[in-house]
Amino acid sequence: MTSAIDVITAKRDGRALEDETIAWMLNAYDRGEVADEQMSALLMAVFFNGLSARELRTWTATMVDSGERLDLSRLSRPTVDKHSTGGVGDKISLILAPLVAACGAAVPQLSGRGLGHTGGTLDKLETIPGWRATLSNDEVYEQLESVGAVICAAGTGLAPIDRKLYALRDVTGTVESIPLIASSIMSKKIAEGTGALVLDVKVGRGAFIKDHERAIELATTMVALGRDHGVATIAQLTDMNVPLGQAIGNAIEVAESVDVLRGGGPADVRELTLALAATMLELTGLDVDPAARLDDGSAYEVYRRMIAAQGGDPDAVLATSGYVYEVTAPRAGVVQRVDALDVGVAAWRLGAGRARKEDPVSAGAGVRCLVTVGDEVVAGQPIFELYADDDAHLELGRATIASAVSLADEPVAPSPLLLERIG
Ligand code: URA
Repeated sequence: MTSAIDVITAKRDGRALEDETIAWMLNAYDRGEVADEQMSALLMAVFFNGLSARELRTWTATMVDSGERLDLSRLSRPTVDKHSTGGVGDKISLILAPLVAACGAAVPQLSGRGLGHTGGTLDKLETIPGWRATLSNDEVYEQLESVGAVICAAGTGLAPIDRKLYALRDVTGTVESIPLIASSIMSKKIAEGTGALVLDVKVGRGAFIKDHERAIELATTMVALGRDHGVATIAQLTDMNVPLGQAIGNAIEVAESVDVLRGGGPADVRELTLALAATMLELTGLDVDPAARLDDGSAYEVYRRMIAAQGGDPDAVLATSGYVYEVTAPRAGVVQRVDALDVGVAAWRLGAGRARKEDPVSAGAGVRCLVTVGDEVVAGQPIFELYADDDAHLELGRATIASAVSLADEPVAPSPLLLERIG
């Protein structure tokens, strides 16, 4: 008989675990037969000693098998999803899902909520009056067939072990382990049933992973897991030292997404959306130019139908926060750095993000970045606008944003947004 202590000591001592042992341990934990402290010890052993490719495949498969796996193969369109590892101002899903649907694919974006300084897609969409994040599986199928895109909360039935493990990792210092992150993300995406997947792996100050080599390792690991499970997967590393776009918050990110869907908006948001759309379409074999579908209004039309299908009013006026503060440049110069982490933390402290999963978020709070790297500014020129629902939050945001910008005296070239592609 397998015992939890034998499993923990084996991994602690750097020995490989048998497939049956991994499946037994995870399932026994799910049934409540292995205690939290024992699973915590195993997670810490994995944190230090890692998992081989075989162990990770079995670990991930066990997580997938712990719940339901949607069957999207009966849809008339090819399915493809995108997952981002999380960034500041990352509203790409709101534009990308309807855009790729307008190109002929079905996009099942089953998402989570934001935690900490990176925002959550569901929190953003929930600022649209009437919009509903929770759908039944039948509603997901129906909307994918009729509209082609759905962004909704991932049901509790998908990879349920991940929920328990993630909560435990959060309080045991074991979140930042590549095999644990990779299995957590990929088990949910595999269970969702998508045929293809593009991973936007963010690297830099505002990302979960700050180091380029680690980002490559995470991307490579996730691509291999996807392919092992029959999901055609490609990863794109993207820079997250600078916030994406100008708007960081909830309602203001929805408004900026609509600007891009209507042919305007910030150039970096458009560039990344089109690059990810092209990769998604490549995986589905659809030979369509996404830029044309963005510019002719068909992506915006799908967006409107996608919002309306979930009870939202795409024409509703979005919330704004009443307390506004303008941050100005202390001197003349060239913007050398707009720190994504500082801006993300400022938006969070202004009220746009949450510290604990049960906290509410403010719809109108956030930051608007009025300058980006390479811009010339004069002394006293507005560089950020801060929005909050009260003075206390505004003060917290002001204190954080102070260090977010550096000015230089020489011209500064912005870094490229698109880095390596893996897979
Ligand atoms: N997102 C997830 O879903 N899981 C992780 O472990 C990290 C980010």
